[in-house]
Amino acid sequence: MTGYRLTRLLPADHLHHALRADARSGLTGQPKRLPPKWFYDARGSELFEEITRLPEYYPTRAEREILTARAGEIAAATGARTLVELGSGSSEKTRLLLDALRAHGTLERYVPVDVSESALESAAKALIAEYPGLEVSAVLSDFTTGPVLPEEGGGPRLVVFLGGTLGNLVPAERAAFLSGLRDQLLPGDALLLGTDLVKDPAVLVAAYDDAAGVTAAFNRNLLSVLNRELDADFDPAQFAHVALWDPEQEWIEMRLRSLRAQSVKVGELGLAVNFEEGEELYTEVSAKFRRERVERELFAAGLRLSDWWTDREDRFGLSLSRPMSDASD
Ligand SMILES: C[S@@+](CC[C@H](N)C(=O)[O-])C[C@H]1O[C@@H](n2cnc3c(N)ncnc32)[C@H](O)[C@@H]1O
Repeated sequence: MTGYRLTRLLPADHLHHALRADARSGLTGQPKRLPPKWFYDARGSELFEEITRLPEYYPTRAEREILTARAGEIAAATGARTLVELGSGSSEKTRLLLDALRAHGTLERYVPVDVSESALESAAKALIAEYPGLEVSAVLSDFTTGPVLPEEGGGPRLVVFLGGTLGNLVPAERAAFLSGLRDQLLPGDALLLGTDLVKDPAVLVAAYDDAAGVTAAFNRNLLSVLNRELDADFDPAQFAHVALWDPEQEWIEMRLRSLRAQSVKVGELGLAVNFEEGEELYTEVSAKFRRERVERELFAAGLRLSDWWTDREDRFGLSLSRPMSDASD
């Protein structure tokens, strides 16, 4: 593909090495848990795209509504030459920002960063056809463990983190992530962050437990990843999809509940994992925010919020922030 470059920042054995380590500690711990990044093999990335089109899954539509209204303002405020997107997935909503930065006359380069190579490739293919002359410089990377921003110039850069993906990190992970990101930002760079907001629990739970069962299939896909990559013998039909609202933590928690007492072999780890009937494997949290918390967490990481936008129904928040300089703050 002309105009496309892929930089692999994940070691070649990442899938095996890191998944093995996560599976060994996660399946032998109490409670059992696995990090959500392992959802996103090619099938998981496709299922997530299906989720974004579900009637119950409002976040994508709400965030798109804000971007449609504000992309011009964001382009003018940032004057970005490089648009970097963390957890870019299909880069679907990104087009609104690409269009606005192009109309503003500054756009040169798009840098999607994702842990899913299949998502990066199919998004890049489509974008290169739609945006002739755009340089797409993709980065295969895990934003929780390594540097996420390319070192070359191309500033000012607008770094975007959409879809509420920040909420998949627990508070300590968020703090580490945001301050690590802040350390890579240069004066003139900006961060555009999408955060899903606290609302009626019934609306939240429905968004993670849709009637068509797509989110359930997405959740169970994690077991298929373990079966394929680690020679495990999970029977996904023996695990129920669970989505719960935790009012204290203000997050949705997804789990897989064992329908019976069972023992699962994980061949590559030489491990037999026993589940009691009703025992749950924790697979994802999705934190919901209030403006004050977003502003406070950004500030603690050295980022000052300059703008805050929501959709008409106040379901989703988009914030623009900039690194604070030691001299001025
Ligand atoms: C919830 S989806 C959001 C996708 C898209 N940004 C959107 O708004 O629709 C999360 C995306 O982040 C990627 N992802 C999840 N964990 C990651 C990690 N640790 N490092 C890099 N990418 C990750 C997934 O592959 C997926 O594309």
